Amino acid sequence: MVRIETPRSVAEVYLQGATVTHFQKHKEAPLLFLSALSRFEDNAPIRGGIPVIFPWFGKPADKPSQHGSVRTRAWILAGTKSNPDGSVEARFTLPPCAELPSIAVEYLVTVSEALSVELIVTNQSASEFTFENCLHTYFTIGDISKTTVSGLKGVEYLDAMDNFARKTERDDAIRFKCETDRVYVNTTHTTEIHDAALRRTIRVEKENSVSTVVWNPWIEKAKRMTDYGDEEYKSMVCVESGNVRSEEIKLAPGGTSSLKVKLSSNPAS
Ligand code: BG6
Repeated sequence: MVRIETPRSVAEVYLQGATVTHFQKHKEAPLLFLSALSRFEDNAPIRGGIPVIFPWFGKPADKPSQHGSVRTRAWILAGTKSNPDGSVEARFTLPPCAELPSIAVEYLVTVSEALSVELIVTNQSASEFTFENCLHTYFTIGDISKTTVSGLKGVEYLDAMDNFARKTERDDAIRFKCETDRVYVNTTHTTEIHDAALRRTIRVEKENSVSTVVWNPWIEKAKRMTDYGDEEYKSMVCVESGNVRSEEIKLAPGGTSSLKVKLSSNPAS
């Protein structure tokens, strides 16, 4: 695990999956949720933080597992750098593997008052490379019943709880009253998480992402998940930024794709 301290914040990143598990501004609650039951075992993803989902999302019929293969792989810390503005940057690379021949994958984590992450994929092969990506971010919240997500009004989404039926978001303040699992499509919008219990607003800004996934497992699914506490759905929400399902990326030979997410927080006004 790599621990990064700056004058204003601290972060932790596990080489397993290059998973950022912790980010906290001084004098503020942790921004990222990490399950107390996360296993930290080989071949199991870390439950919480920001698992890197690549090269596929969900469980397509022709794939061996859910959410890609890199979230459980051991990445390499390729370098660290202190920037003049006081931020600290750590660069991780995915070791070459037979499954992704001629595909270079890097992940930059920049820690300052905000947390910025960037997934960079370069196609060094002679043919087009098609993939999905998603930075599956788990946020700490004070109370799910007092939390809303805004910024998606009018956006179409695929409702995984209704056989991926296509619907349109009617609310500017999305509330959570049951299991929620949605892929918002064709949206580059910034979203905000309004957490009345912790009196905090979290901003999720993204670049080169057209899909936003909003997920909370609620009561029954929380009980079924062996690496997640029965009550933890109350103190967590996922707002994930990526390019998934029909919004997959087709990368030409020699091409590079960069998915960037900036997470910041402020006291609620
Ligand atoms: C979300 C999916 O992105 O990830 C959910 O939309 C899924 O359907 C969740 O349950 C967690 O997945 P996993 O593989 O980490 O348990």
